[in-house]
Amino acid sequence: MCGIVGYIGARETKGLLLEGLKELEYRGYDSAGIAVLQQGAFKSFKALGKLVNLEEKCANYATEGFAVGIGHTRWATHGKPTELNAHPHMGQFSYVVHNGIIENYQELKREMIEAGKTFLSQTDTEVIVHLFEYYFEQGMEAFEAFQATLARLEGAFAILLVTTSLSERIFFAKHGSPLIIGINAQHEKFFGSSDAALIGKCDQVIYLNDGEYGYLDPETIALFNKEHKPITPALCALPESKLSAQKEGYRFFMEKEIYEQSTVLSDAMLGRLGDGEILFEELDSAILEGIENVTFCSCGTSYHSALAASYLFERLAKIETHVAFASEFRYREPLLRKSTLFVVISQSGETADTLESLKMAKAAGLRTLAICNVDNSSMVRLSDYTILARAGIEKGVASTKAFATQVAVLWMLSLYFAKARGTMSREAIAAEITTLREVPAKTAVSDALHERTRRLSKRYLHGHGFFFIGRDVFYPLALEGALKLKEISYLHTEGYPSGEMKHGPIALADPELFTIALLPRHMLFDKAKSNVEELSARDATICVISSEPFEKADDFIPISTCNHYMLEFFEMMVALQLLSMEIAVRLGNDVDMPRNLAKSVTVE
Ligand code: M6R
Repeated sequence: MCGIVGYIGARETKGLLLEGLKELEYRGYDSAGIAVLQQGAFKSFKALGKLVNLEEKCANYATEGFAVGIGHTRWATHGKPTELNAHPHMGQFSYVVHNGIIENYQELKREMIEAGKTFLSQTDTEVIVHLFEYYFEQGMEAFEAFQATLARLEGAFAILLVTTSLSERIFFAKHGSPLIIGINAQHEKFFGSSDAALIGKCDQVIYLNDGEYGYLDPETIALFNKEHKPITPALCALPESKLSAQKEGYRFFMEKEIYEQSTVLSDAMLGRLGDGEILFEELDSAILEGIENVTFCSCGTSYHSALAASYLFERLAKIETHVAFASEFRYREPLLRKSTLFVVISQSGETADTLESLKMAKAAGLRTLAICNVDNSSMVRLSDYTILARAGIEKGVASTKAFATQVAVLWMLSLYFAKARGTMSREAIAAEITTLREVPAKTAVSDALHERTRRLSKRYLHGHGFFFIGRDVFYPLALEGALKLKEISYLHTEGYPSGEMKHGPIALADPELFTIALLPRHMLFDKAKSNVEELSARDATICVISSEPFEKADDFIPISTCNHYMLEFFEMMVALQLLSMEIAVRLGNDVDMPRNLAKSVTVE
């Protein structure tokens, strides 16, 4: 996702900003930019693509003496990756960089256009700089204008703003997106959206909390809490290892990504949950014109989210749905009809089989939609419509947060289609939206859950194999649980529909067969329970994940009680991911880069 850096001091500012941005490259981005304010004048550079393009653009520029500067790497959410949409965004006398999403930007943009402001980009961010200048022009002091601007913003943000009206100062605010201040003995001041950007430059940092804002200048650190009371900054020592800074204290990227799910799920929903309806500004009513059915096509984990979606689409939007492995679809000479909406799902947007299937669908004249995590990827460029999953860059080869956001987006899409097709009432959709809002909290990793999976993991290191079983959407979740464990533990695992066990697989049941059984309270509980009882009667070793303790299980991972099966789905998903990771850790495997696997499979 996006990265932010800032600097106040007398060293060569451009170089320091670029160095900081380089340290944030691991987060992924599609454009970058800097703005430097020196002696009351701005110099700004932006470039599409990698930082080297930005470096080339500003190769002949350098500062001498005191300056303030801000920089940004952008991962497109609102508006395509273009130079105009790259940050910093400018007004008449100010520049801003921003991470996160301003949910109410359309309303604010309309207001600013009416007030005479001209917008250059398609981004949500640009409203910030225009609001600030608007309030300043109304006669407010710069800091008051900044406060008035913050009061208008809804959504998540980390913001740095510089203005010629106070040219030694950087205004900042944090609400829902990370932002860190760094200082050193030379009285230089830095900002970074991750401490990776600050290592080696400063020795003390202030990790800002949500709602905190203020300004820095050479002499001052002015910090305010969300009640607008001045607070004393809490200084911490900065970690020294860059790699560990990228992992933000977690042992593995996979672990970090599991813990990030709660946040990225909020990102995936930002601006998309309306009042009794789902809002996808990426779509229009033409998407369903003449469409009678949906084909999902994908690979691996993305196939599992497609399979989960097929249950939701048929249940909620009452539309016929097919799910295909892209590697099979390509060569089976499929019947391609124009009444089919062809949906590819992919974290990377580059998976060869999925991409080729998409090309086939395009060539046959089908309408296409990509659910993807990487803007400007091949699939995004090729599809008629795109919905970005907004999971941020995923580094662990074993996909976690991409799966979580794909399922959330697909659930939202099923409700969007349900409205368009009139298959659900506004009230019923509103009830689902209320449930969607609970998902981020349900996926926040609790110490108790992590500790439980850590303790249990030692009992699941050997044996002759694992079955993961579930019914309905919990069947694709079982498949995903099995894939996660297989990828990083190298143990034999299989996912099965619970009801299928007695049709063959149960022949394997004995104490050395481990079964991970998903028992949701709100989806076919009694039926799934009977299936587990059948295995228990054959002395299989069973670990149940449920909100209901189950006396016939050997082990139990509790989830919280709730009122919707999809909340159980997301909580179980986290339990499965943690269990897989802890088993792999005990086996001494490379969790982030398991053997024989690549993050992006660009060959068939
Ligand atoms: O980038 P994609 O979503 O298209 O990738 C598809 C699969 O290669 C991917 O999900 C793979 O199965 C992961 N290693 C799963 O953890």
